[in-house]
Amino acid sequence: MSARDGSGAMFDAIAPRYDLLNRIMSLGVDQGWRRRTVDAVAPALASTNPSTSTSTILDLATGTADLAIAMARRWPEAQVTGLDPSVGMLEVGQKKLAATPNVRLLEGDARALPFAAASFDAVTMAFGIRNVPAAERVLALAEMARVTRPGGRVAILELGEPRGVLGPLARFHVHTLVPRLGAWLSGAREYRYLERSIAAFPAPEQFAELMRVAGLRVLELSRLTFGACCLYVATPEARG
Ligand SMILES: C[S@@+](CC[C@H](N)C(=O)[O-])C[C@H]1O[C@@H](n2cnc3c(N)ncnc32)[C@H](O)[C@@H]1O
Repeated sequence: MSARDGSGAMFDAIAPRYDLLNRIMSLGVDQGWRRRTVDAVAPALASTNPSTSTSTILDLATGTADLAIAMARRWPEAQVTGLDPSVGMLEVGQKKLAATPNVRLLEGDARALPFAAASFDAVTMAFGIRNVPAAERVLALAEMARVTRPGGRVAILELGEPRGVLGPLARFHVHTLVPRLGAWLSGAREYRYLERSIAAFPAPEQFAELMRVAGLRVLELSRLTFGACCLYVATPEARG
């Protein structure tokens, strides 16, 4: 039986080739998007008092840990936890951690986080929320709101449908080149899923509304690279 599209088991199948294919298919732009995400959570880390506590960051759908590593390098004193249901992706990530002892990787699901309320200064998720079934995305977003401390930051990076002048070119890239290149380089149907899941993902304003429903106050919605990617930054609403 094949794994559900977007599930951890599906990612197990492509884990060994994931980093390489990512760089080739996004033309290296994905690393710039992750840097923007790191910048977006900086205010939450700057306000942690270093004499009283260590900053804590949770990276959901951490996969092969690129974003977790980028944050651990930027804040060597912080504790970064990367969480993902795919053991295969985490194994690839684990091998990259030699220079960042402040990262720990855990198997887990964004819909049921094994952490107390308000236990993180910042929570991030890059290219992961699209893989959570649509009916359960609010649940995952509410979990992010729950585990982030008041005044902390939630930053979500997700692919979208490119628009604007260069939109047609970017759409050709996403809809035609990426699935063909992905299937050719990996032999995997997973890259068809990538195209389909991007097309099915809510428009940025609609997704921001889901974040509000889940108890997050949206501070920023930035369309990056002709809207091929969106960065959503939020903070938890005050709890009553
Ligand atoms: C496209 S990868 C992104 C990996 C990494 N964040 C990055 O920037 O490269 C998507 C990840 O989402 C994970 N995932 C799928 N369902 C999930 C869920 N319910 N909760 C958390 N992560 C999930 C997959 O296992 C996979 O590692």
